[in-house]
Formats: sequence, structure tokens, C-alpha cells
Amino acid sequence: MSVAGYVLVTGSSRGIGRAIALRFASEGYAVAITYHGRRDLAEKVAEEARRRGAPDVLVLGLDVASPESVEEARKRVEEKWPYLNVLVNNAGILHVGSTEETSLEQWEQVIRVNLTGVFLVTKTFLPLLKKAPWASIVNLASIAGQTGNIVASTAYAASKAGVIGFTRRLAVELAPLGIRVNAVAPSFVETDMVRDFIDTPEKRRKIEELHPLRMIIQPEDVAETVFFLATPRSRAITGQVIGINAGRLTC
Ligand SMILES: NC(=O)c1ccc[n+]([C@@H]2O[C@H](COP(=O)([O-])OP(=O)(O)OC[C@H]3O[C@@H](n4cnc5c(N)ncnc54)[C@H](O)[C@@H]3O)[C@@H](O)[C@H]2O)c1
Repeated sequence: MSVAGYVLVTGSSRGIGRAIALRFASEGYAVAITYHGRRDLAEKVAEEARRRGAPDVLVLGLDVASPESVEEARKRVEEKWPYLNVLVNNAGILHVGSTEETSLEQWEQVIRVNLTGVFLVTKTFLPLLKKAPWASIVNLASIAGQTGNIVASTAYAASKAGVIGFTRRLAVELAPLGIRVNAVAPSFVETDMVRDFIDTPEKRRKIEELHPLRMIIQPEDVAETVFFLATPRSRAITGQVIGINAGRLTC
């Protein structure tokens, strides 16, 4: 079976990561599904990816906050695949609460997973991306990294603003190698991460009203943009942050 390319999506056992992995699977890409916690969910995504036509599927445990775990995942990928075309840094955790209520441990945990994790996974997989005939990186930032008018905490906002800075700088650093680096910045997307904010019709309406397009963004909406940014059809785009926010922020 021919392989369109090799793709790794962090945190792809559910939510946006799952939708991204399945989008690539449908286009004939080999996908690495990574999980942190429940392997059974990742196995289900893998099954669905095969059903949609992925020529190869790897299921890997991966904690983006642990250098040993990231290194172990790299070894597993290197054993099976010749190189990596696409890295999607999707894994992340939400944190809500005032700055006064945020403990140093909570702050460090959010920064470690959402920002240091992006650095660690990118640095570790870069040699495999450099081996590929074409390669790109897409990072999951957030509208929280672009505006302060959000429900998440300063820790979350700072981590996502950090992802945006990392993306812009890395794009310039890797441009001479032809490796593109972009980010997407979604507003509310209907996943388990924000379930508590949309679990009643009243709450859903409030969230819809935040968005000029009056909608709740779906994981597939994000996956579509990530697919475009990751593949050579967007070959002239690098260092960009694409808002997926139904008109909530127009910049
Ligand atoms: N849902 C939203 O409204 C929204 C909006 C903007 C940005 N985002 C971002 O999109 C990304 C995906 O979020 P989602 O909505 O699908 O949330 P989700 O909670 O459904 O999925 C997050 C995934 O990250 C994984 N993860 C958490 N900690 C990890 C770690 N240490 N190592 C590896 N994996 C880890 C989880 O296991 C899970 O699979 C996140 O980076 C999030 O910050 C989400």
C-alpha cells in the first residue's frame, strides 16, 4: 500500500488530536496515535484510522512532559518508519482560576505540558523530520494566547502565547531546511476539555453568542485547517498563526 506520508499527532486518543489523526488517515497517511493515560481509547482511534485507509498505524504511550517518554516514542517511530513528514504538537491541558489561586505547582505543570512539551517533542523528533523529503510542524496554540478575554487562567494563556512565539521563531530557524512551522489558535472547540462550559442548552447558547458565526467549533473544523497547513498545498505559508474562532477575534 502506498504511503502519502508519515504523521505523528501528540495527545491523539481523543478530542482535536483524534480528529487530526483521522483526517490524515483518510488521505492515506501513516499515523502515530499517541496517548497519555488510556491506551484503550488510542486503540479505538487506531482501528478507525485503519478503517479510513491509513496504510500503517502506530499506537504509542507518550508523556510530552517527560524527556524519557518522548525519547522512547522517538525510538519506536524510528524502528518502524524511515522519517517523519508531519509533527502535530496537539497535547495540552486546560487550567482555570485566578492568578492568586494558582499554585506554583499548577503554574509549572501547565507550562511544562503546554509549552515545554512542545519544545521537547519538537527537538526530539527534528532529526526524523530533517530526513524526510518534505516536512512541517503544526502547533496547537489557542485564542487564549492572543487575547485576555477568556475563561482560562494566566498559566494557560502564558503557555499558549509561548507556543505562538516558539512557532514564529522556529519557522525562521527551520526555513533554510524547507521545514515549515505554523500554529492554529482555536476558540472553544467541542471536546472533553471544555465539556463543563457547554453541558446545558443555556451554556451552549452563551458560548455560541461569543462567536459572530453563532456556532460551536468542532474538532473536524480544526483538523481541516491543520491538514491544510501541514501538507505541501500550503507550501508558501510558514510562521503563521491561523485563528479558528468563528469570528471571535479578527486579527
Ligand atoms: N477544546 C478547546 O476549546 C481548545 C481551544 C483552543 C486550543 N485547544 C488546544 O487543543 C489541544 C487539544 O485539546 P482538546 O480540546 O482536544 O482537549 P482534550 O482534553 O480532549 O485532549 C487533550 C489531549 O492531550 C493529552 N495530554 C494531556 N497531557 C498530556 C501529556 N503530559 N502528554 C501527552 N499527552 C497529554 C490528553 O491525554 C488528551 O488526549 C490542546 O493543546 C488544547 O489546549 C483546545
